[in-house]
This record gives sequence, C-alpha cells and structure tokens, in this order.
Amino acid sequence: MIIKPKVRGFICTNAHPAGCAANVREQISYIRSQTPAAGGNAPKNVLVIGCSTGYGLASRITAAFGYGAATLGVCFEKAPTDKTGSAGYYNTAAFHEAAATAGLYAHTINGDAFSNEIKDQVIQLLKAGMGKIDLLVYSLASPRRTDPVSGEVYTSALKPIGSPHVSKNLNTDTLKLAEIAIEPATEQEIAHTVKVMGGEDWELWLEALQAADLLAEGARTVAYTYLGDKLTWPIYGQATIGRAKEDLDRAAQAITVRLRDIGGQAHVAVLKALVTQASSAIPLMPLYLSILIKVMKENGTNEHCIEQIQRLFGECLYSENPRMDQDNRYRVDELELDPAVQDKVEAIWRQVSAENLMQLTDYQAYNDDFLKLFGFGIPGIDYDADISPQVETVF
Ligand SMILES: NC(=O)c1ccc[n+]([C@@H]2O[C@H](COP(=O)([O-])OP(=O)(O)OC[C@H]3O[C@@H](n4cnc5c(N)ncnc54)[C@H](O)[C@@H]3O)[C@@H](O)[C@H]2O)c1
Repeated sequence: MIIKPKVRGFICTNAHPAGCAANVREQISYIRSQTPAAGGNAPKNVLVIGCSTGYGLASRITAAFGYGAATLGVCFEKAPTDKTGSAGYYNTAAFHEAAATAGLYAHTINGDAFSNEIKDQVIQLLKAGMGKIDLLVYSLASPRRTDPVSGEVYTSALKPIGSPHVSKNLNTDTLKLAEIAIEPATEQEIAHTVKVMGGEDWELWLEALQAADLLAEGARTVAYTYLGDKLTWPIYGQATIGRAKEDLDRAAQAITVRLRDIGGQAHVAVLKALVTQASSAIPLMPLYLSILIKVMKENGTNEHCIEQIQRLFGECLYSENPRMDQDNRYRVDELELDPAVQDKVEAIWRQVSAENLMQLTDYQAYNDDFLKLFGFGIPGIDYDADISPQVETVF
C-alpha cells in the first residue's frame, strides 16, 4: 500500500514502517556517536516500561546501544493488519532488528503494563534466563488504567485545579488561534488522574520484582516527569497531571525505603517538553512547543528524546556527581527552564496570532517533529512507493 499520513487533531492514525525504522536507526547512530559515562556501574539488565515511543524508546536505545545492556521492554502497540500498525510497533520491530545485528539481547512484551498478567509474564521471562534487573525505567503515558485488583477503569483528565484557565490555544487542524477556557477538574477527576499517572503502578512493578527476587544488588529505578514554568503550570505543573506527577515523588521515597536491603534507589527524573504522542494531546502544548523549539533552536540548545536521555544516563543516573534538585530529582530540563529562554517564550506567547504564527514560532518544526513520530517526512524514504504494512514479527 501507499502510506501517507492520516492526521486527525492531535493524532495520526497510521504509521510508515520504513520511516519509523529510519527514526530508530537515527537515534541508535546518535547514541553510538556518544561516549558512555559510566564506570563499573553501567546498566546491564534493563527493563523499560513504555519502551516503544518517545522517552521510553530513547531510554531503551541508550541502555542497549550506549551501554551494551540486555533490554526487556513492555509496550501497548497495535500490530499491522490490512491497515498499518502503530508507530511503536514498527519502532520496536526496528529496535529488535538492530539489536540482533549488534548481538544484543532484546525481548518485548506487548500488553497492558498495568495488569497483573503482564507483570507475571515479565517475571517468568526474567526467571527463564535474562536474570535480575539493575535498572527499571518507568516511562508510561496512558489516558486510562484498569485497576488490577478491582477491575475498575480510571481515566485521566488534563484540566486545571481550582479555577478555570483561559488561554490562547492553537488548533493544529486549522492553524487558527483561539482563546479557550478549560474548566477545573472535579475532586474525582484529580483522584482518577493520580490513579492513572501517579506512582502506584510504578510501586507495584518494584514490589512484584522484589518479591520474585529479580532485583540486582544496587538496582535503580527512574520515572519521568515534567515541571515546566509559568506558561504551562496552569495546565501541567499545577494541574491534574502535575498532581499525579507529585505522587511519583512520594512513590520514589517509598520505593527507596523498600529497596534499602539491596542498596537500591528510586528517582524521579525531570525532562524537557518535546513533541511526543503523549504531549501533543495536552492543550496549549502545540503552541508552547512551537515557540519553545524556535527559541531553543536559535540558542543552539534544542534537544529531542535521545539527547535528553543520553544526558540523563550520563549526567545523572550513571554519574559520580549527578545533577539533582533539593527534592532528590534528577534534572535535565535546565536548558528549557533557563530564565532567558522562558522570557523569550513568554514574550512571543503574548504577541502570537494566527497571522504571525509562522514568523514568530517554529510551527513548521513542531509539525515536522509530530509527523516524524509516525515515520513521515523523513529524507530518503520514498512515500510514493508501494510498501507492505507487515514487518517481521518479533514480539
Ligand atoms: N513528552 C514530553 O514532553 C514529556 C516531558 C517530560 C516527561 N514526560 C514523561 O515521559 C513519560 C513518557 O512519555 P512520552 O511523552 O515519551 O509518551 P509516549 O506516548 O511517546 O510513550 C508512551 C509509552 O507508553 C506505552 N504505553 C501506554 N499505555 C500502556 C499500557 N497500558 N501498557 C503498556 N504500555 C503502555 C506506549 O506503548 C509507549 O511505549 C511520561 O511519564 C511523560 O509524562 C514527557
């Protein structure tokens, strides 16, 4: 079939297998060009929950191709049928192919990471040969979660807390800017968002692995968060999702206490805002990112997932002198939060309109990054070629 992007609002409903594979190869090449930081404590056996796209995929690539680690990934992706598979499916197939060529162990389990069944599958697989985990990366982004005990389905909300938030917003279908008013979340919506995106499931993973004696001495675990600044606080940092992310701080402390006997540690890592499938669904983010990319590119400090995660491993996780804040969180968001960058972003935000969108922002780069997530717009890929949506099944 000929595969062209089918974009609806903030999602693209198809993906290009060759384009996704090219993205993965590009990230692998980047990591191979960097010198890994670690000494004796390099990651060897790594479990990545949410391994197929965005920050989780970059984490898996960094562990495998930066440090030579064996990786086990968990993701929730759609296999191709007569339609294309999801981007994460193609990314994972490409990752497996490259890992096999490099002689690196890789296994992926495709299913609901919140469920007991998938946790059991991971445990069986580790027992069957991969052995104890020394790093668990928790990089899930999901709009809903089925509680593994009660079976109740919780749905997250992306809403402010306390009062409505009125803001400029970019409609990426029409490229029109309009004021939107987002009503505040109810107490129940806040609680449900914490249930989905908070630390409970992260803790359950560590509990299950520890109970099965599958955590190595000194094992580490990291979960990802975003803090942002004034412009995004009303919809992220101080909103429902921010409340859920605060729960990760609680969970990190609880996990560290739990892992004391094996000298383990849990940390939250603060990453920068960038274009992923998860972030493009958040109101205001497409406009914020279009401006941020412009300012950071002009500064020469723009980064994608792979650069962020390469620095997270090198400057935090496996550094003798990790960059941390007073709340014990790893920080690699400092280039975004540079006050000079934020001042410029805020100044543009005040001036931007539908008429000057293309001049004042780098919407083009935002949109290129968005399409690239699904394997589109990549130089060297022939998008007029007839291509099968099937790839070799590896998971
Ligand atoms: N994108 C950003 O700007 C940004 C910034 C800072 C922190 N973060 C955080 O990084 C983490 C990853 O986000 P992302 O932006 O890379 O998202 P993403 O949408 O690219 O990736 C989400 C991953 O989770 C997997 N997944 C979703 N539901 C699942 C389920 N039920 N079971 C198994 N796997 C499931 C997907 O398959 C995919 O691998 C999130 O915690 C997010 O809050 C993102």
